[in-house]
Amino acid sequence: MSSTAISDSPAPWLRDNCPCGECRDPRTGQKLLRITDLPDRPAVGSARELPGDDGPVWEVVWEVVWEPDGHRSRYPAAWLAAHCPGGPHGPRGDGRTEADKELWAAGDLTGRLPGASWEAYTGDRAVRIRALESVRRLGFVLLRDVPCRDRMVLDVAETFGFVRRTNYGELFEVRVEADPNNLAFTGAPIDPHTDNPYRDPVPTVQLLHCLRNEAAGGDSGLVDGFHAAALLRREAPEAFDVLTRVPVEFAFTDARTELRAQRPLIDVDPLGRIREIRYNNRSLGTLHGSARVLEEFYAAYRLFGELLLRPGLRLDFRLAPGDCLVFDNTRLLHARTAFAEVGGRHLQGAYADLDGLGSTLAVLRREGAAA
Ligand code: OGA
Ligand code: ZN
Ligand code: ZN
Repeated sequence: MSSTAISDSPAPWLRDNCPCGECRDPRTGQKLLRITDLPDRPAVGSARELPGDDGPVWEVVWEVVWEPDGHRSRYPAAWLAAHCPGGPHGPRGDGRTEADKELWAAGDLTGRLPGASWEAYTGDRAVRIRALESVRRLGFVLLRDVPCRDRMVLDVAETFGFVRRTNYGELFEVRVEADPNNLAFTGAPIDPHTDNPYRDPVPTVQLLHCLRNEAAGGDSGLVDGFHAAALLRREAPEAFDVLTRVPVEFAFTDARTELRAQRPLIDVDPLGRIREIRYNNRSLGTLHGSARVLEEFYAAYRLFGELLLRPGLRLDFRLAPGDCLVFDNTRLLHARTAFAEVGGRHLQGAYADLDGLGSTLAVLRREGAAA
């Protein structure tokens, strides 16, 4: 490698990434310096390539306003090659936006639902990695033959993350209740939606573990909300834009709870890439705004609603006892058909988060690479 990786790198960036023991705590790898501790205008005085234990390193001697500042940094050449501006990666996605996803319509997945048996998932690291990768790439995985035990859904969540406890409890029972506080706990059909948009932060992973499914009806559906939003952007860019800009109030109220959150239906990252979908007709609150904004919002909301119901987008399947669906609640919308309230249908649900899932996946990969 030539010294261009050094000369192409802005000096403050390079200086801030100095790996030496003064700049980074050797035990934790955490940075020790505040940005205000760094010289105001650092400059590379000289740079040379040296052999190192783990490959060549570039040694930089720093100057400030043409005077040595007494600091020396050693950057592994491989690190520079991977991270310097103009290097192979460029600005990376954070793993959450459409840039890092495989968008799908129902036909793309028929006959190849991402799945794994519980036995293989718990016993084989490669299967576990593939299953968690499916949640990141496609938005879901279907674990099969998960023991039909009470509270087992919590054990499933703990294989990759931390259970997010809510007003519904550590877990929630999806079955017909005598005095329901949510339509999910009746036999009513439920259109494609994301859960808990009235919470901020929203739970980013949802689990649904099927214990019994003997009732007539009660089939499941999933829609890729990123795909639907990308279609909206293509077919009606102004409507897409409205849904990314108008804050929407979602609310949930029962005898003990009063939750509300205001977020747009489609959230984009600072580069404009689709990052989060919130969509739940049951808990959309009363919007406030100018008459013009309300008109525009309702027209755009309706277009997006029609798109989400478009034939071909929704993947239909039926959960069998032992199936546990794990999905990205910031991307996929889930649905179910109506079912007979007298029959036996019982799911247990829980929430967790994508950051924990991503961490577990990264550690599994690291261990896999080291093995
Ligand atoms: C829910 C839900 C779907 C189902 O509980 O959030 O959407 O299949 N349930 O009952
Ligand atoms: Zn340093
Ligand atoms: Zn739901």
